[in-house]
Amino acid sequence: MAAATDAHLSLIAYGDVVAGCERCALARTRTQVVFGSGSPTADLMFVGEAPGFHEDKQGVPFVGAAGKLLGKLLEGIGLTRDEVWICNVLKCRPPGNRDPLPDEIEACEPHLWRQIELIQPTLIATLGNFATKLLSGKPAGITQVHGRPQQVVLGGNAVTLYPIFHPAAALYTPRMLQVLEEDFRRIPDLLGRPAAPPPPTAPLYVPDPPVEHPVQLGLF
Ligand code: URA
Repeated sequence: MAAATDAHLSLIAYGDVVAGCERCALARTRTQVVFGSGSPTADLMFVGEAPGFHEDKQGVPFVGAAGKLLGKLLEGIGLTRDEVWICNVLKCRPPGNRDPLPDEIEACEPHLWRQIELIQPTLIATLGNFATKLLSGKPAGITQVHGRPQQVVLGGNAVTLYPIFHPAAALYTPRMLQVLEEDFRRIPDLLGRPAAPPPPTAPLYVPDPPVEHPVQLGLF
């Protein structure tokens, strides 16, 4: 973790530079650059894919439905968005929320490397395939590697990379949500912190009660 004030100032200054980025064609279609949000001295960084419609409008990552789920998953392990750093592989929205293109990833990656250098997280949770493949430097997909920490060197520091499913993938798939919750539960341990107390709110996934078929009782 970097020294508080220096990291903060450098990150703000870097954010100002990136706000005018024209390294790829997305500069022409975006509303604004979505640099990242949270603590500039966070031990834990989340890296998603790219801003969507709401993020592009508000300039903040993960504010749509997937972001709300991310907030709840964080709450479930005793953390808030303000205590971690949240950003994306791409800092600008691809039109229509299409997948990032290889040349866009290549153009944008220096911004992510610089964020990692400045923030110096000890744990980076990669959300989904794009962030996992970019930061691990390996082609293995998220289904294969989720929930398995990897030791890597990023931004000149030893970092634990922790691939997990993207919250958007879990929005409509209860089984995926369970896996994501299980993978999230290991985060406090990977941060070297005591496990979070049980969440005060209801579980994120509550299975529907079994449908009861009324039994027709005879009158006699
Ligand atoms: N919102 C983001 O900021 N990133 C994603 O990857 C998805 C939604």
